[in-house]
Amino acid sequence: TIIPVVLCGGSGTRLWPRSRKACPKPFLPLVGDTTLFEATVLRCPAEAGFGAPIVVTGAAHLDHVESQLPDPARSTVIVEPEGKNTAAAIALAALRLPEDAVMLVCPSDHHIGDVAAFQAAAREAAALARQGWLVSFGIAATAPETGFGYLKRGDAISGSGGFAVAQFVEKPDLQRAIGFLADGGYAWNGGIFAFRAGTFLDELAAHRPALAEAVRASVAAGSEDGTRFHPDAATFALIEGESVDYAVMENTSRAAMVPATMAWSDIGNWQALHDALDQDEAGNAVRGPAELVDCTHVLVDSDGPHVSVIGARDLIVVVDEGNVLVCTRDGAQKVGKLSGAVNQ
Ligand code: GDD
Ligand code: MG
Repeated sequence: TIIPVVLCGGSGTRLWPRSRKACPKPFLPLVGDTTLFEATVLRCPAEAGFGAPIVVTGAAHLDHVESQLPDPARSTVIVEPEGKNTAAAIALAALRLPEDAVMLVCPSDHHIGDVAAFQAAAREAAALARQGWLVSFGIAATAPETGFGYLKRGDAISGSGGFAVAQFVEKPDLQRAIGFLADGGYAWNGGIFAFRAGTFLDELAAHRPALAEAVRASVAAGSEDGTRFHPDAATFALIEGESVDYAVMENTSRAAMVPATMAWSDIGNWQALHDALDQDEAGNAVRGPAELVDCTHVLVDSDGPHVSVIGARDLIVVVDEGNVLVCTRDGAQKVGKLSGAVNQ
């Protein structure tokens, strides 16, 4: 079996006004009726070979997590005393599992359109994980995004569809990202990882011994409460937070990737969300009461007020609890910097 480890942290500002500190991106029904968090758990069902999920989250999101978990009695929730980024979050889950357990680390802020392809890639990744690899899901890079990690494809691993990763570069600057895209030998890191719990802990201890030791101490002194586990706060506070990408994946010599073509989107902004939604022939997507006349490539998302738009192209209109956002699709990248988003 493969153990899904679902990570929920952080707060989204780039999908303001829908996404707020109080209810960040994973817990909103952004695409269809299920939230990104629910969809993440539902993508890993027992029928497809997945074990009981472990969710790692902060106290601030515990209510959302427990009310949205499809099968709370079967799941475990690790409640972080504070956010220390993904290396620590993954280590917490690894320390609660047998060394040989294969974990599939799943961020809860992605949309995946092709679930069957995801599950096939997960099986492929799990097979490599059992051989001692730390496996990333490689997504075909289509733009020089600087918010992603990049995987340089190395040698094919025989008997599998995977490749060794010759180089892992987290969040390159724009010049380097442009170079990677032109080179053609790089994929985006999808942020989904498979490895044996023991392999991950060994690599973390090799490259970030202090971090590994602090998480271990915090788990050793932690407490169980039904299906919840609380790591010890005092020891957890000593951790210097770092993402798994910088702490482990850039440094390990055991990185591999499986190419995954699964209609993946990180829904990083309103433009990406628009692209993930069902659209009419003119490229318009509408949620809530609205009337569009002579519009092309327009997204309207309203939680109540009726929105009317005439003659617009490449426009986004969002109404949420009295806040209104109007921006061009190109402008969507700047939403997180609006004072409304920053001072929520
Ligand atoms: N529990 C917990 N605690 N979860 C966390 C924490 C934390 O302290 N910090 C982040 N997370 C969760 C986020 O909620 C998200 O689901 C996931 O871990 C990844 O964190 P992000 O902060 O969203 O990372 P990123 O988007 O900048 O970069 C990662 O994902 C990209 C793909 O979307 C990297 O892995 C990149 O290499 C990758 O390309
Ligand atoms: Mg992210």
